[in-house]
Amino acid sequence: MRKFIIGGNWKCQVTIVEEAVSIATEIAKEINDILTENVEVFIAPSYNALYSVGQVIKGTKLKLAGQNMYFRDKGAFTGEISPDSLLDAGCEYVILGHSERRRIFGETDSYINQKVKKALEKGLKPVLCIGETAKEKEEGQTETVIQTQIENSLADIPQEQLNQIIIAYEPVWAIDNKFLNPDSEIKTATPEEAEKIHVFIRKLLINKFGDNVGKNILIQYGGSMKASNCEGLLNIADINGGLIGGASLSAEKFKPIIEAAIKLGK
Ligand code: 13P
Repeated sequence: MRKFIIGGNWKCQVTIVEEAVSIATEIAKEINDILTENVEVFIAPSYNALYSVGQVIKGTKLKLAGQNMYFRDKGAFTGEISPDSLLDAGCEYVILGHSERRRIFGETDSYINQKVKKALEKGLKPVLCIGETAKEKEEGQTETVIQTQIENSLADIPQEQLNQIIIAYEPVWAIDNKFLNPDSEIKTATPEEAEKIHVFIRKLLINKFGDNVGKNILIQYGGSMKASNCEGLLNIADINGGLIGGASLSAEKFKPIIEAAIKLGK
């Protein structure tokens, strides 16, 4: 039986609480009765809507995630969000090191590493995002970039916490984001392209953490995943789910991806 984790990253797309609550209510209603125990689903709304969305999905199978987090508990850190605030809203997961954080807001691996450690200390499951840009891919740097991001972002994590981590491989060139891809056409990775990198990541994780941990860390694919292409991607053995942007913004678009995971997980 295969395990999958499907995440909806709403980015800064749903700006009004009422709208976020309505989408979350609809998603929870549509998936609650069909979800099987080997498929986990989370959504990551904007901070302003986290608490309200947390309240409406409480008691359903849908989980809540933060899109980012600071690595200190509290203090004079203008504009940041504390792990305690995420927990208070009901989060189980937190997306860390998303390409938009790395490439637009300048977050570095060592900064992300501190966030991963803090999330684990607090009992939040980090979804660590990694991925190469179109230029890095063209220059044949994909594997080097990914290896560096994994090694540095996951440096010095206590062994017993490693099984809480999820990796999201999101090739930047596949993310539906014009700021990150001003000059290149945005296209989903083919199942073959994605498989090659997921197998590489799996090997890295096994080398770094040993068989027991490395084989079991879930690796999501992200980047223009949608109903029409999700099955081909989720069919790959080392693709253990998806991190979805645009196609997670309504129950209508999100549900078919979850259904594909349920089908493949049987
Ligand atoms: P899209 O699915 O909109 O390409 O976004 C992917 C992503 O960045 C999810 O974190």
